[in-house]
Amino acid sequence: MSYNVNNDLPENAVLSVQNVGKTFTLHLQESQRLPVLHGLTFDVPRGACIVLGGESGAGKSTVMKMIYGSYGTDSGRILLRHQETVMDLVTAQPRQVLAARRETLGYVSQFLRAVPRVPALDVVAEPLIERGISRETARERAGELLTRLSISTRLWKLPPATFSGGEQQRVNIARGFIIERPLLLLDEPTASLDARNRGVVIELIRESLGRGTGMLAIFHDADVREAVADMTVDVQSFTPAREQAAA
Ligand SMILES: Nc1ncnc2c1ncn2[C@@H]1O[C@H](COP(=O)(O)OP(=O)(O)OP(=O)(O)O)[C@@H](O)[C@H]1O
Ligand SMILES: [Mg+2]
Repeated sequence: MSYNVNNDLPENAVLSVQNVGKTFTLHLQESQRLPVLHGLTFDVPRGACIVLGGESGAGKSTVMKMIYGSYGTDSGRILLRHQETVMDLVTAQPRQVLAARRETLGYVSQFLRAVPRVPALDVVAEPLIERGISRETARERAGELLTRLSISTRLWKLPPATFSGGEQQRVNIARGFIIERPLLLLDEPTASLDARNRGVVIELIRESLGRGTGMLAIFHDADVREAVADMTVDVQSFTPAREQAAA
């Protein structure tokens, strides 16, 4: 069974991406193959922020989605320290991936996928409630985070579907930070935020790193990147040469 592979995960790492390859098959274009990644290798240590760099289209979000289990991985291993075990996310069963998401693996995607009609406060509180925390305590904690991120109380009772891009992004960040898991994936969390709110996100990231969370992040803004990055992985250097498709 490909589940316990402890020996190959460095002691201080929460995640180890080893020799990962990914090729998309474009079914709408005569099954044309698009090689995106080859030999991608890096670790995410506890308490460290590893940033994925490289130009648009290099494959940064693809890496996040493979780790989160939204995309399959063609080759290599993605080892995650999950509770007392080490899980290879490349071969893990769907229910193991779901267990990892619940306990170990957080993800702040670029866009909030809000359930219709659920008020912003509950969208943020939900991960805590799922963990068995009382609704009242969870809402209190959600309110604190929304306040820090300058979402006025007027909006808390409203579903985020009609919020501005930046407001939705802040709700998404609050939801991502309300519970702490050992690994947090951040895909451009500050792309539509002003400088003040970017500062708050930098604080949240630093606090969480200080408590030992490992982070893997993509940052649109150089100031955020410089403030929190311990190391940058240039995804482009693992991108196979691609034919420039004529438009
Ligand atoms: N589901 C998919 N099917 C086919 N091709 C895909 C799919 N997802 C991504 N790609 C392709 O893979 C390449 C990498 O995409 P990805 O979104 O990972 O880039 P990125 O580095 O995150 O770019 P950006 O900085 O613009 O967000 C792109 O050429 C993209 O078109
Ligand atoms: Mg991307």
